[in-house]
Amino acid sequence: MHYSIRQIANFFDHVSDKYQPFTRYSTDVLEQAINEFLKFMRSDQKYLLDLGTGNGYPASRLLAKRPELRLSLLDCSDNMLLAAKKILATIAPDNVPTTIRGDLNNLKFRPDSFDIIISCCTLQFVRNIKVFLCALRSVVRPYGKLFFAFNDRDDLKMQLIHQLFPGFNAIEQARHCTLKELVNLLQICGFSVVHQRRLPYSLFFPTRSSFVEFVASKPFSGFAFMNEKSFQKGFDVFRQTVSEKLPKQNIVSKGRLSFVIAEKLVCGR
Ligand SMILES: C[S@@+](CC[C@H](N)C(=O)[O-])C[C@H]1O[C@@H](n2cnc3c(N)ncnc32)[C@H](O)[C@@H]1O
Repeated sequence: MHYSIRQIANFFDHVSDKYQPFTRYSTDVLEQAINEFLKFMRSDQKYLLDLGTGNGYPASRLLAKRPELRLSLLDCSDNMLLAAKKILATIAPDNVPTTIRGDLNNLKFRPDSFDIIISCCTLQFVRNIKVFLCALRSVVRPYGKLFFAFNDRDDLKMQLIHQLFPGFNAIEQARHCTLKELVNLLQICGFSVVHQRRLPYSLFFPTRSSFVEFVASKPFSGFAFMNEKSFQKGFDVFRQTVSEKLPKQNIVSKGRLSFVIAEKLVCGR
């Protein structure tokens, strides 16, 4: 199921002031994945493109460790780009990133423009991953690096919200890919996969009602895109199951973040 770029931009424009990566999920795992990626970045690779940058959190973690990076941040949401600029200015005020309002499904860069391309928690917005990776292959320089962090489709099943809200799970399963599918497509599109991992994390809710309130606030774009009738139907089942099956306090939802690092292969060398 695909949504128009306008719907997506509207959703993220509205949540930009309270947006945190994974909403209330731990940012520790994303930081851990980024730290692993740093080990694969060469010191002469400094032109970095962040696709679907959001509020710039992943890019800011890299800039904090590699202040010489030259960042280009692309997003369809103006408010997210503004938030990203603010966060990055706190890290390196003199190193102003280039911000681009654009569509990651329709990239308009010259060939060989970047040394590094990152994209975190965005693959569910990519219409055709193979077409997307072919576009990246053109835009990234020889031996350039790609870094993707995402929720593997199969890992969604570990999350309580997906187990207890069947309509949401069905929609989200259609949008997400698996780690194995991504790795295969990277290889088909001329990249060598140099590292891949899954990092477990847990999401905590102090009480049943805090868990129900969290879901009622439609924290994920997938909820916002459901029509009101299907959301309400799924939400009623969800609330009922929470009150019947979950403990009154200390609710834990497990999840995993997958990440992949790949390098552009160059033929004949
Ligand atoms: C879940 S957020 C992730 C933000 C950030 N990468 C992070 O990990 O914190 C997804 C971001 O991708 C952007 N986005 C979604 N679809 C897009 C598209 N087609 N083109 C450009 N940006 C898009 C959204 O506006 C949002 O800021």
